[in-house]
Amino acid sequence: MKIAKVLCMVGGSGETSYAANSKLQEKAILMARPMLKEAVGEIYRNLLPEKMVVADLGCSSGPNTFAVLSEVIKMVSNQCQGVGQQVPEIQFFLNDLPNNDFNSIFQSLDHVDQTLTAEKDTISVPHFVVGLPGSFYGRLFPRQSVHFFHSSYSITWISQVPKEIEDNRNGMPLNKGNIYIGRTSPPVVVQLYQEQFHRDFSHFLKLRFDELVPCGQMLLSFTVRNKKGILDGEQSTIFGIVTDSLDSMVREGIIEEEKLDTFNLPFYAPSTEEVVAIVTLQGLFEIISFKTFVSNFDPFDDLDDHAEFDNVQSGTNCAKVMRSVLEPMIACHFGSAIVDDLFSRFAINVAKHLLKEKLKIFVLCLSLKRK
Ligand SMILES: C[S@@+](CC[C@H](N)C(=O)[O-])C[C@H]1O[C@@H](n2cnc3c(N)ncnc32)[C@H](O)[C@@H]1O
Repeated sequence: MKIAKVLCMVGGSGETSYAANSKLQEKAILMARPMLKEAVGEIYRNLLPEKMVVADLGCSSGPNTFAVLSEVIKMVSNQCQGVGQQVPEIQFFLNDLPNNDFNSIFQSLDHVDQTLTAEKDTISVPHFVVGLPGSFYGRLFPRQSVHFFHSSYSITWISQVPKEIEDNRNGMPLNKGNIYIGRTSPPVVVQLYQEQFHRDFSHFLKLRFDELVPCGQMLLSFTVRNKKGILDGEQSTIFGIVTDSLDSMVREGIIEEEKLDTFNLPFYAPSTEEVVAIVTLQGLFEIISFKTFVSNFDPFDDLDDHAEFDNVQSGTNCAKVMRSVLEPMIACHFGSAIVDDLFSRFAINVAKHLLKEKLKIFVLCLSLKRK
């Protein structure tokens, strides 16, 4: 599977789009806001750039893309008021893979500017926004040219499904019956996913180290695995329900078994300990701070775990989140005809699961400074 060709969220602003269904991911941006403020403030005070270069890696399209952009502008504006310094110009790069819906972003930029201009008590900050298609597992910028990198909910997408898992030698799929690390995945599958993430994340850090100015900063938020057991981590449980939904379609002859056996997600949710160990071992960045927070997978469920809730509605909400993320990949591998059916089954299966326990998402926000 060529990741750059198939990995993207559902574009546009329709009912199933990522833009209309990214409230879960918005929570990470809100939780990380104090760390964003710290990082932008420190860059502004310590480096006093006349031109500040900021990049959002894996920006997708929709309100979250603009939330990051607007937050940074407002924070720079506040800093300028605080210290009475000259207002810098900001160059924004919005990066994602080439299939991302960049057009939607460009079409909404005027509206974002108008909203910012209408804000009270903010100094206007000249800013210039460009889209930057390309993989963040390759170089994106000239050496030492960026002051701040932001990335939210993106770097758990690894650069490829580990080759050995995809190769399917002798018709014996290594990860039979699973689309990610699942309860029946053999240890070698876990190891291969883990090694792929370690290689990718180390490489990502080295690339960003080269591109950042000295003392430049980076704020990364992404899903992590909280449970000790790797086979039943939170993401394994959630993707396990997608697997069960696909499997029921195999049993009914709607999709071929071979199709399910050869579909694996280019994704890995590490533990916080794994992430900290990689950053520390590599030694290119100082960890300024990190924190983990948890939310329900249903973005509209902020209730206490023991409070009464509507599990059927919650299943539907979770299916919308999942569809907005997985639909392009599912459609590419299985064909678009199965998509409605699959996510209806997923909604029902989630509703059943929620009667036992709520689905949780843990997010790590990690603030790093280039040494
Ligand atoms: C779940 S979305 C997150 C979007 C947005 N940052 C947010 O917080 O709502 C993940 C995004 O990362 C992008 N992505 C994944 N791998 C990438 C890569 N190697 N290079 C650039 N973008 C990538 C995907 O295309 C997708 O748009």
